[in-house]
Amino acid sequence: QAEQLYELGNKHMWLPFTQMKDYEENPLIIASGEGVRVKDIHEKEYLDAYSSLWLNVHGHRKEEINEAIKNQLDSIAHSTLLGAMNIPSIKLAARLIEIAPKSLSRVFYSDSGATSVEIAIKMAYQYWQNEGNKKKTKFVALSNGYHGDTVGAMSVGAIDLYHRMYSKLMFASYTIPFPSAYHHPTGNGDIAKEESLQAVRELFEEKSDEIAGVFVESMVQGAGGMNLMPPGYLKGLEKLCREFDVFLIVDEVATGFGRTGKMFAVEHEGVQPDIMTIAKGITGGYLPIAATLTSERIYNAFYADYSEMKTFFHGHSYTGNQLGCAAALANLDIFERENLVDEASQKSSYISEKLEQIIALPHVGDVRQLGLICGIELVEEKATKKAFPAEKRVAYQATIRMREKGLLTRPLGDVIVFMPPLAASYSELDEMLSIIKDAIEEISSLHP
Ligand code: LLP
Repeated sequence: QAEQLYELGNKHMWLPFTQMKDYEENPLIIASGEGVRVKDIHEKEYLDAYSSLWLNVHGHRKEEINEAIKNQLDSIAHSTLLGAMNIPSIKLAARLIEIAPKSLSRVFYSDSGATSVEIAIKMAYQYWQNEGNKKKTKFVALSNGYHGDTVGAMSVGAIDLYHRMYSKLMFASYTIPFPSAYHHPTGNGDIAKEESLQAVRELFEEKSDEIAGVFVESMVQGAGGMNLMPPGYLKGLEKLCREFDVFLIVDEVATGFGRTGKMFAVEHEGVQPDIMTIAKGITGGYLPIAATLTSERIYNAFYADYSEMKTFFHGHSYTGNQLGCAAALANLDIFERENLVDEASQKSSYISEKLEQIIALPHVGDVRQLGLICGIELVEEKATKKAFPAEKRVAYQATIRMREKGLLTRPLGDVIVFMPPLAASYSELDEMLSIIKDAIEEISSLHP
């Protein structure tokens, strides 16, 4: 049976963000999962050290979430939100608003991080149109920002490797340098922060009358390489947005639901976004639910007689899916009962101690961590931060080695991602970190 699965897979499947030629060399077919481990079709076990692409929270096959989905099936699996509400989506909206920043009071559902971002783009854009401010049509992106792979989401992102190919399809946004301490020529986060905020101020002074909003990933840039914002940066950006009446649109797709040691990462700086996008962890990583949260100010600009043509003409077939919303409600119950956000924050301190051993390795240039998000940047030369030649794909090789040792993750260029499920126990975290360390050492020794 395994042979047949490989054959059919190789014949008919095309995987996201995957060079299929690479995949064929190291094929992997997952058959099941339990807790923080998944098993392939040969019963080989792997630690899920990237939370199945940054979304799993409680581990796989969490009883309460499975039950919630099964129970919901006895009522109904799906009905449309176009012109109708449904019970779990209402309950979930209320729960989300309870835990979200105070500025947010309305929930617009969709089904992936990228769609929640598309909605944020169109919502911010149409707000200004509906208000008669026809010039405010542009957005600001941060260098290395990432908000998903649909064309709009790419247009408010700025990762050369992912976006350059499609540049002629994308709409133009202004780009501000992201203040990454490690990558700044001075290595100083404060200087990087001030430079970036100054660039925003100058842009706003000249162009704020044509800028609808600024898109940022909350506190950490994920796909751009796990780059951390220096303290005070997001708050500084919020102040500038208020001063110049530009919307602050915060993407919490990767950082929301306890991932950074707070329910939402904006809480680290007490920031109140005008629009916030959430997905991934919202269902504990079980089903495709996403949402775009916004303020009463924005909602009110769309509320009018139909003939005024202010309706938000946007929606997806699976928007507000009942099975997903039921899973999300169960997810939030577990967060409360297991005090998961505080737990995550304690695990975060534990991990940072353990990471000391990894920072000390000869080819580890930088280790960046916020909560249960860690990026380990490999370099050829530590002192000068000189990168490995790209064609060596050292971080990729290291993750293949980790897989052999029974751990799954993916690299982002030269950065190895460590993002365990929030529920990982201390001993499971130890196991993961020791495999990661060993694999990095082994691969580094091939490139002395
Ligand atoms: N916003 C943020 C901050 C994200 O990190 C992501 C996905 C999205 C939006 C889009 O959400 P989605 O449409 O996938 O539900 N390409 C990289 C990893 C991308 C990380 C996924 N983040 C890789 O090749 O590993």
